[in-house]
Amino acid sequence: MTKALGQLPWPVTLIGSFHDGRHNLMTASWVSQVSFSPPLVMVSIAPERYTHELIAATGEFVISILTAEQVEIARFCGSHSGRTTDKVKALGLKTAPGERGGVPVLTDCLANIECRVTTTYPAGDHTLFIGEVLGGSVMRPDADPLVIRDWEWGRYLKV
Ligand SMILES: Cc1cc2nc3c(=O)[nH]c(=O)nc-3n(C[C@H](O)[C@H](O)[C@H](O)COP(=O)(O)O)c2cc1C
Repeated sequence: MTKALGQLPWPVTLIGSFHDGRHNLMTASWVSQVSFSPPLVMVSIAPERYTHELIAATGEFVISILTAEQVEIARFCGSHSGRTTDKVKALGLKTAPGERGGVPVLTDCLANIECRVTTTYPAGDHTLFIGEVLGGSVMRPDADPLVIRDWEWGRYLKV
């Protein structure tokens, strides 16, 4: 069963959150658009993540889509918690103020999607945050997105 589930290709994104002057980034692959009109996305986040606490407090998050060259950023933000590490500072990532919300965006990722939480659902050992898309910007239109299949990093290619 796990092997079959592993064949689903996952995007690799960073979920940005901001609360009390702290900007945090968490790697997330369980991310998808779920409605065209209104434009809605979902992110599935385990309750023990610091990100869960920040999004629950503010109702805002940014999805930053990573490029195939950003594996090390994904590894770092997926293995350290913002409770103990300032990941933005540790990685020296460039940020800019969000255009639609209070969460900063990343200037060197593929694209940023700014969202406001409309609904949350418990989903097993995770929580689904459904977010309305407030705005989005493509930073690097020629870059290939980073993906994961069966826990191996890969690159999206056109056929
Ligand atoms: C490739 C990858 C994908 C991940 N996807 C998710 C995810 O979709 N949801 C989740 O809750 N954690 C996911 N994680 C784990 C979190 O990124 C990790 O626990 C992180 O340290 C939490 O950071 P925080 O405590 O600062 O929020 C993923 C990790 C990796 C490496």
